[in-house]
Amino acid sequence: MDKPVAGQGPQPLDPAWVRAWFPALAEEIEGRVPVFFDGPGGAQVPGTMVEAMARYLVTSNANTHGAFVTSRETDALIGAARAALADFLGCAADEIVLGANMTTLAFHLARALGRELVAGDEIVVTRLDHHANVCPWRSLEERGVVVRVADIHPEDCRLDLDDLARQLNPRTRLVAVGYASNAVGTVNPVAEVVRLAHAAGAWAFVDAVHYAPHGPIDVGALDCDFLACSAYKFYGPHLGVLYGKHAHLARLRPDKLAPAPDSVPERWETGTQNHEALAGVLATLQYLEALGREVAPGAGDRRAALVAAMTASRDYERGLSRHLLAGLAGIPGLRVYGEADPARTANRTPTVALRLAGWTPAQLARVLGEQGIFAWHGHFYALGLCQRLGVESDGGWLRVGLLAYNTVQEIDRLLDALRWIAATPPPAI
Ligand SMILES: Cc1ncc(COP(=O)(O)O)c(C=O)c1O
Repeated sequence: MDKPVAGQGPQPLDPAWVRAWFPALAEEIEGRVPVFFDGPGGAQVPGTMVEAMARYLVTSNANTHGAFVTSRETDALIGAARAALADFLGCAADEIVLGANMTTLAFHLARALGRELVAGDEIVVTRLDHHANVCPWRSLEERGVVVRVADIHPEDCRLDLDDLARQLNPRTRLVAVGYASNAVGTVNPVAEVVRLAHAAGAWAFVDAVHYAPHGPIDVGALDCDFLACSAYKFYGPHLGVLYGKHAHLARLRPDKLAPAPDSVPERWETGTQNHEALAGVLATLQYLEALGREVAPGAGDRRAALVAAMTASRDYERGLSRHLLAGLAGIPGLRVYGEADPARTANRTPTVALRLAGWTPAQLARVLGEQGIFAWHGHFYALGLCQRLGVESDGGWLRVGLLAYNTVQEIDRLLDALRWIAATPPPAI
């Protein structure tokens, strides 16, 4: 790739430049360099992230608010990580709540929102979602809250917006929607869902865990009340992040220990945070900022560079999706679930769920794994969708999940392997 020149407009992402940041991509495992198509379960990480976590533990490891240097450094690190995550999502630093993972943060938020609800109040979830965006809200059923489920269009796994609108009524207090499906890759029209929720007088919660590595997020433009994501999906450490509008974080009453700070957002953060993971996420966001400046040297502040990085990732991944879907279409007996048209990749992430006639997804994943191609099988906790499409009792899907560090050559390796498998008699079950 030619070196981009300031003022020229964004350049395409160069996968060789990206891959050089990720030591795992060059490591031989069982005698060969594997293909990581398991990203929706957790991405590989930049080497600088690993170094930052180790460095924190060696040079600054301490608890917070102490009168000595390592504690002061830890306080500064938390502030820096919060500010960087705010730039990633497009909000203020004090609207970022840190936690263990998205699931824990969603249950935490559900308990706080539950205090505001009375029996007969309603919550709308969707059939497309990971159970981490269903069970926390269903936990409020024990308080008499009614949970309604918005359906999908089964032929291409788009959210059925008309059905979602039908579920809304004056009792609706919350709409919980995924930004994108971690099983079939559908990207939802989130801003429109937020608009519908607000028109009904409800809060809007967005699960952006699957979407976050695949495109820029702007919580201000979405106008959502809450949005959660997980750093380990966007090349970071195991760490959960919750955005909440400041007014909500100040007014709602989360579970907290009496002596813990009552300031926003600290009042939402239970116990001691994972400080080394915060050092790691800061390094991951520095990598993404560097990617943004590589593709858009004219990008101004960190937010602009992060948006450039995620826009370039999205565009590059769309090309990968086109290549993958076009190749899969030619394999006999193979069925893609969700949007399968290579011309319509704008509506999906490069996460593809498939089945091959005669083979269970577990068998497929095992044979691919033996060839050094790592992909998940099962329902991926997208249980509602799996059941709706009738594949739950049958092993779910094989999920091929691409990220910005994957390449066309890796996809070709998968397609060759799948063609070979399709021409091979399936093993006796
Ligand atoms: C779409 C989606 N939502 C929520 C989760 C749960 O995230 P966490 O592991 O951070 O609790 C996942 C995890 O795979 C996911 O893919």
